[in-house]
Amino acid sequence: MKLHLAVLPGDGIGPEIMEQGLAVCQAVCDKFGHELTYKYAICGADAIDKVGDPFPEETFQTCMEADAVLFASVGDPKFDNNPNAKVRPEQGLLAMRKRLGLYANVRPVETFDCLVHKSPLKDELVRGADFICIRELTGGMYFGEKLEGTDVAFDTNKYTRPEVERILHVAYQYALQRKKHVTVVDKANVLASSRLWRAVAQEVAKEYPEVTTDYMYVDNAAMRMIQEPKFFDVMVTENTFGDILTDEGSCITGSMGLLPSASTGEHTPVFEPIHGSWPQAKGLNIANPLAQILSVAMLFEYFNLKEEGKLIREAVNASLDQNVRTPEIQVEGGAKYGTKEVGQWIVDYIKK
Ligand code: IPM
Ligand code: MN
Repeated sequence: MKLHLAVLPGDGIGPEIMEQGLAVCQAVCDKFGHELTYKYAICGADAIDKVGDPFPEETFQTCMEADAVLFASVGDPKFDNNPNAKVRPEQGLLAMRKRLGLYANVRPVETFDCLVHKSPLKDELVRGADFICIRELTGGMYFGEKLEGTDVAFDTNKYTRPEVERILHVAYQYALQRKKHVTVVDKANVLASSRLWRAVAQEVAKEYPEVTTDYMYVDNAAMRMIQEPKFFDVMVTENTFGDILTDEGSCITGSMGLLPSASTGEHTPVFEPIHGSWPQAKGLNIANPLAQILSVAMLFEYFNLKEEGKLIREAVNASLDQNVRTPEIQVEGGAKYGTKEVGQWIVDYIKK
């Protein structure tokens, strides 16, 4: 097939890991006879510096014209330390989500056996844990009415029935392909928005009698994820809870540098690592490119190109098994591989 990508490397380690993600994408396309074309676009702090807008109109157009967006990361400490900054790199990410209508964010929490020892949790709790979090991405407090005064401030956690319905259907569709178990995470004992979620979920659940549904308060879910991560199969939740729980989830696996994500909705889908821009590592060739590379696997799988996705996953697993690893997950005394070397090894594996 013909595949046209919008490529948004962003800030920090973004450009370095993107280079590897793209190289892997190209290698897979060559191998399977797909025609890959792509166009770069700016976003984040890089775009603020260049044109004063973290998600410029031209970048939006480039995204709209593509079959998929491959995104790396945005963020720069010079904005974090300045509470008065009028524009922030993160606003570019939020603008992209809103304008592309990316309401469904899929974040897998997958463990790799050979990295279980890196997890802060006990081996037997982690080994075999495998769930996905479906995070609602265009509603809730992130986008609700806000007031930012000097003496009073608020954010509104607003959800409408259609917004809740559509994300629940996404969760159930994933569950049907997996272990048929959905956990709806909310705070219905306190929040009105959560009571709407729960009411809608109880209706939607009836349409999927083959799926087991349970309801869990978010505080309890945060605890359960640590006590018994294997309990979960598909977790579905609102924007803010999903933000927090997926960081917790990424920790379970032992390295944040390994988890990809997909955001889908009304327009072009976006594939990106769940980690941030790690500005301290910029240019040092130490960032783990695997989350970006696995995002490419998710991209192929989205287009139902399962073999392509599988080959990337196989290559990633082989690199880990053979200790071709970036420093944060390298075993003691193991050879040193940088971002480029890991990427190149995976490209070579795919070409074989
Ligand atoms: C994420 C990030 C973003 C979020 C930030 C960078 C705006 O933490 O994708 O989880 O809060 O959604
Ligand atoms: Mn987050």
